[in-house]
Amino acid sequence: MSATIIDGKEIASTIHSEIKAEVEQMQQKYGRVPGLATVLVGERPDSATYVRMKKKACAEVGIQSFGVDLPEDVSQDELKKLVEELNADPNVHGILVQLPLPGHIDEEEILGTISLEKDVDGFHPLNIGRLSMKRRDPLFVPCTPRGCIELLDRMNIPIEGKRAVVLGRSNIVGLPAAMLLLHRNATLTVCHSRTKDLPAVVREADILIAAVGRAEMVRGDWLKPGVAVIDVGTNAVDDPTKKKGYRLVGDVNFEEAKEVAGFITPVPGGVGPMTIAMLLRNTTDSGWREMGEG
Ligand code: GUN
Repeated sequence: MSATIIDGKEIASTIHSEIKAEVEQMQQKYGRVPGLATVLVGERPDSATYVRMKKKACAEVGIQSFGVDLPEDVSQDELKKLVEELNADPNVHGILVQLPLPGHIDEEEILGTISLEKDVDGFHPLNIGRLSMKRRDPLFVPCTPRGCIELLDRMNIPIEGKRAVVLGRSNIVGLPAAMLLLHRNATLTVCHSRTKDLPAVVREADILIAAVGRAEMVRGDWLKPGVAVIDVGTNAVDDPTKKKGYRLVGDVNFEEAKEVAGFITPVPGGVGPMTIAMLLRNTTDSGWREMGEG
């Protein structure tokens, strides 16, 4: 058997078109468009690349972006003040502080300073708290986990009553992905570095979300035939045949897994493009809400 490949790039592109049309509608109706502020602290090349991609995607769909770059040694107070200014700016509907922040910054305090109504990353402690409780809808859901669920939905893969296994418990992906699966009535197991007999637990999954950041850790013989595999991992491995000297692989061994799984996301081109699509979605939703709709 060979799995159906979940084409995240294609699905994200459909979502970009949907959002572009909405932004045009908003412009016609209110004479305004949604705005996203990105805050980049320091010079991490990966963070700079992510922020550049986010701004480019905004431009493509007509969302206005406001980029603020701050030096690595910015103080807690200066960063907090900037977030407060963005909170007060009526043209800004979403504030994204790119993580990780430098070690001297209190990340939780900064994320907690972002206005709840502009928390398009969904990382504000209150939004995360609401996500973790029954019948307490957060205003925003974190983009990568939301993208994982969107892929399942758009591929018509049922979640309710299914055995879902999440590998990893990070604040950005594993934990919120687990909460979303629970809200959708999956029977959930969360695995981490202390889990015993990981292959046996993974083998129970009808839906597997892998977000541990370990290249090709999940092998084909860990999978139940027909499982839907959502691979969040983006790991660089040395490859002298490539111009850059490396290639990107997921947390799942794709070649082995595609022979067993029913559905699988590739890396790259699976979950990655969905993170940005969901950021555009959250920012546009925020725009509608501020203009009195939604
Ligand atoms: N760093 C890695 N992923 C993310 C994300 O989704 N949002 C932010 N703000 N930082 C990140």
